[in-house]
Amino acid sequence: INFSQARFLTSAPNIRQLPADEGIEVAFAGRSNAGKSSALNALTRQRQLARTSKTPGRTQLINVFTLTESQRLIDLPGYGFAKVPLEIKLKWQKSLGEYLQMRKCLRGLVVLMDIRHPFKDLDQELIHWAVSSNIAVLAVLTKADKLKSGARKKALMQAEEAVPAFGGDVKVITFSSTSKHGLPQLEDTLSQWLNQ
Ligand code: GTP
Ligand code: MG
Repeated sequence: INFSQARFLTSAPNIRQLPADEGIEVAFAGRSNAGKSSALNALTRQRQLARTSKTPGRTQLINVFTLTESQRLIDLPGYGFAKVPLEIKLKWQKSLGEYLQMRKCLRGLVVLMDIRHPFKDLDQELIHWAVSSNIAVLAVLTKADKLKSGARKKALMQAEEAVPAFGGDVKVITFSSTSKHGLPQLEDTLSQWLNQ
């Protein structure tokens, strides 16, 4: 798959405003600031495709990018950021929950976590939910450039020891949007899911 052909399609405040539930979607989920939008930009070789920000909670809508007519990438709203007003939090958590529960064309879920703080409660809940819904999961430990190679390998080993507890189809990689470390592995898994 040529990921650089990705194009922005729409930002949806709820699932009713998404394109028809057909074809195949792969979604990027994770805590606010985990690096979802940055990973999408690295994957698609487009610096500004998905909007990134130093301010957590930037992505509040469901952002849809098309690859081909039947293949899409989804940038989901981040969760777990405390400083966002409750009203806004509930609104976008609702769209996240609806998307995850209702979207039939969701084929695989990329769960992005900062390599320095992986598997927080909400991350674990999300992975449990995906496994129980028979959705494949790729756990991506982001910002791997923040650790030296030894610490990075240790974090990966610990994560690999943690994932069997979820059961189901859960893989782990380390990744960096800045250095592109892990990009081939991300592409491999996404290509598999999108071509099934
Ligand atoms: P929300 O949209 O708020 O949920 O955040 P997000 O998960 O989309 O995170 P985003 O991609 O906007 O990145 C958040 C911050 O982390 C930005 O300041 C990025 O520049 C930084 N960042 C993302 N990926 C990396 C990475 O691989 N390495 C480093 N060093 N910084 C990164
Ligand atoms: Mg974002």
